[in-house]
Amino acid sequence: MTASPRPRFHYTVHARDGRARTGTLAMARGDIATPAFMPVGTAATVKGMLPEQVRATGADILLGNTYHLMLRPGAERVAALGGLHGFMNWDRPILTDSGGFQVMSLTDLRKLTEEGVTFRSHLDGTKHLLTPERSMEIQRLLGSDIVMAFDECTPFPASHDQARTSMELSMRWAARSRAGFDAGGDHAARAALFGIVQGGVYEDLRARSAEALQAIGFDGYAVGGLAVGEGQDLMFQTLDHTVPHLPDDAPRYLMGVGKPDDIVGAVCRGIDMFDCVLPTRSGRTGQAFTFAGPVTLKNARHRDDPRPLDPRVASPAAAYSRAYLHHLVKAGEMLGAILLTWHNLAFYQTLMAELRQAIADNRLDAYAEAFLAGYRGGDI
Ligand code: GUN
Repeated sequence: MTASPRPRFHYTVHARDGRARTGTLAMARGDIATPAFMPVGTAATVKGMLPEQVRATGADILLGNTYHLMLRPGAERVAALGGLHGFMNWDRPILTDSGGFQVMSLTDLRKLTEEGVTFRSHLDGTKHLLTPERSMEIQRLLGSDIVMAFDECTPFPASHDQARTSMELSMRWAARSRAGFDAGGDHAARAALFGIVQGGVYEDLRARSAEALQAIGFDGYAVGGLAVGEGQDLMFQTLDHTVPHLPDDAPRYLMGVGKPDDIVGAVCRGIDMFDCVLPTRSGRTGQAFTFAGPVTLKNARHRDDPRPLDPRVASPAAAYSRAYLHHLVKAGEMLGAILLTWHNLAFYQTLMAELRQAIADNRLDAYAEAFLAGYRGGDI
């Protein structure tokens, strides 16, 4: 008997609690348990971690970046070497962001037109053009499993007029992204394409954007343009009025979010997928996340503390005292960055597993309340 082939993309909701859901996103390269946190592997590496170590923290999927990989080492080079999965030795799903957001945040000399974005590389100043079609081509060359539509992340603050013009451009780019992705032959037959809702903090624009994307048709729907300075209250309000406009049977992804309490609030509001540099970047700068709140290890108060970071989080860092981690961070030892990155990724994955279980048990509100009380009121 031959095993039945794995699906290209199939999302099953197992349980619901309020607007929250827990489910499984089945793809050719593996299953993704949702709500899911995707560690960021911008430059074909989750900084400081081997792929099998990232997997051991509980990650089902990684995020990669069109912008960084097109500039270095180059998408055609990665393709010639067999694609991003083989290149970085990660055989499970990879989601790639489409590039526009990174162009706008990392380069200063850039020009946005109907065609796309012209910019100079932050590495060597060379000039490049990124369009919806080229972004789809790069994500195909990388061998991405979940391809993101090419969009403009509307800055905050933006007037209603600015947010509308920007959202409408992103919707035209979404249609071009769909066509470019669909022209990708074999890749289109095994990968998935997500659209990105824009519209700033304006309810009518978010609704129109969600509807425009559904008229085009995508496998999943991301909410973009948040965590750009609007603050948690406005972000949650925007989710409250955006999520009801998204289809119930497709995964919803909140891009670039976030802090642990942002994630808990967004899961309660119906979000299924997240990515953020926070656990990895903070790990490199001496910050650890715990269920009693963030810990700044450089602080002298940890100098003589024999306790591990958090008894609820299993990782190799759990074998060491806060005093030792403080020492490593103060001395600039790379083991400090590695252990804290590992711990932080394990913390995020533990949080996601607990959220999934709380939804399955229909006790998400109580879980969220207890989490926030511990996280915000922690004594560490
Ligand atoms: N990452 C964080 N926010 C965004 C967004 O609005 N668009 C894209 N493409 N990526 C993001």
